[in-house]
Amino acid sequence: MAYILGVDIGTSGTKTVLFCEDGTPVASALYEYPLYTPQNGYAEQDPLDWWNACVNSIRDVVAKSGVPAEEIKGVGLSGQMHGLVMLDKDNKVIRRSIIWCDQRTAKEVVEITEKVGADRLIAITANPAITGFTAAKIMWVKNNEPENYAKCRHILLPKDYIRFMLTGEYATEVSDASGMQLLDIPGRCWSDEVLTKLDIDKSLLAEVYESPDVTGTITSEVARLTGLKEGIPVVGGAGDNAAAAVGTGVVTDGKAFTTIGSSGVVFAHTSDISIDQKGRVHTFCCAVPGCWHVMGVTQSAGLSLKWFRDNFAWGEMETAACMGVDPYYLMDKEAERVPIGANKLLYMPYLNGERTPHLDPDVRGAFVGLSTMHKKRDMLRAVMEGVSYSLRDCVEVMREMNINICDMMACGGGGSSPLWRQMLADLYGCQVKTTANKEGPALGVALLAAVGAGIYKSVPEACEAVIRPEKIQDPIAENSAQYEKVYALYRKLYPAMKDTFKELSALDV
Ligand code: XUL
Repeated sequence: MAYILGVDIGTSGTKTVLFCEDGTPVASALYEYPLYTPQNGYAEQDPLDWWNACVNSIRDVVAKSGVPAEEIKGVGLSGQMHGLVMLDKDNKVIRRSIIWCDQRTAKEVVEITEKVGADRLIAITANPAITGFTAAKIMWVKNNEPENYAKCRHILLPKDYIRFMLTGEYATEVSDASGMQLLDIPGRCWSDEVLTKLDIDKSLLAEVYESPDVTGTITSEVARLTGLKEGIPVVGGAGDNAAAAVGTGVVTDGKAFTTIGSSGVVFAHTSDISIDQKGRVHTFCCAVPGCWHVMGVTQSAGLSLKWFRDNFAWGEMETAACMGVDPYYLMDKEAERVPIGANKLLYMPYLNGERTPHLDPDVRGAFVGLSTMHKKRDMLRAVMEGVSYSLRDCVEVMREMNINICDMMACGGGGSSPLWRQMLADLYGCQVKTTANKEGPALGVALLAAVGAGIYKSVPEACEAVIRPEKIQDPIAENSAQYEKVYALYRKLYPAMKDTFKELSALDV
């Protein structure tokens, strides 16, 4: 039996899972790390925290699985996208990574649009300039920390920094590189035009591979630290969403998934490139060589519920600890007691600005309609509904683009909530399913490693052999009718309030 390892460098922690070649998980470990918010709208992490979490989790998994190291045939890496890691001439990290949800780059977005041209940006990078993408973060460091930029010799994405530490290679792959806004998305290579216009030296960037390609091998030092065997291949892997697509079998046309992790994503596979000229959804290369995906993003999906849990649900957290259950399980049960519409309470999930469909770094979250009659559980339900309305916004844009979605999987922490999945089924008007294996991105990149190691011939073949859908939920017509009424009102909130949020962001207090 062959085994494959998937490592997912997420925002709240790194999860490493060892799988049998048939996709059965054998052992897993999760190590968490902090997110730093030095100012409103800023979000940073320390790449060394990722590295320590990675070494510790791989070491734990190898040790507790009892699998002989020579039977582990490959490693796949997945990770949070868009984060900027800068290394100096000695490969030392220059500053904390500015990560995907950071919103400090509004000025750089204007600068990029002026320098490259709005039309060229869409034609080449398939997206308008976006605060969260890596190019804007690079320009921010150039503009605000020129001494750091001058020291920079290598620019890497989060998982590609881990790859460098595992293999010594500066490499990336098309799905994650798509989120840097420096890749020619139709051509699947760095764009000389964008790099020249932004005056970014191409030699700073890593070599671009397709996701199942072998990019390097485990070094002897890493073998000593982790128990892996020196020389086993590390494949390109994928950004967390493209990885989750493989892990849920979304690798052919018509298939889509919704993930509710820190961010929320609606992701649809497409073998023909399709670009929204208004830039409301992203078009990126996907982990299947030669294919793309269209993706709408809700910045603060699971993050909204986590924020609510950490600030208001201490009671549930204590009870959950006593009962030995997950606090989210209890929160789900509370929210279930509230009717659709949360007793006329609406929540806008824009804690860190929003991407789809507003592309607005200044908008912030809000509860609308609070009354003395509302209880904590109404607010809880409103949070879950608000996130679901925002995900429905993503589906609406895709339907406008004539992207056929007939098969929706649900994944991520929020995807394990039956209540949340039913909300999605009712709001999308289509079936929502989960997979028997819940390891999403880690499984996805382990399968890419299995392809790279020659265990399967192609990504679709690996998915066909391994992924099994389960827990199918149908839309319930009377629920859908109720949600439609609330969703119609939700759609009116952003246009009515966007100027206030701009003023709030500029307020000098
Ligand atoms: C995708 C995105 C997030 C991050 C963090 O564009 O920003 O999904 O990858 O999960």
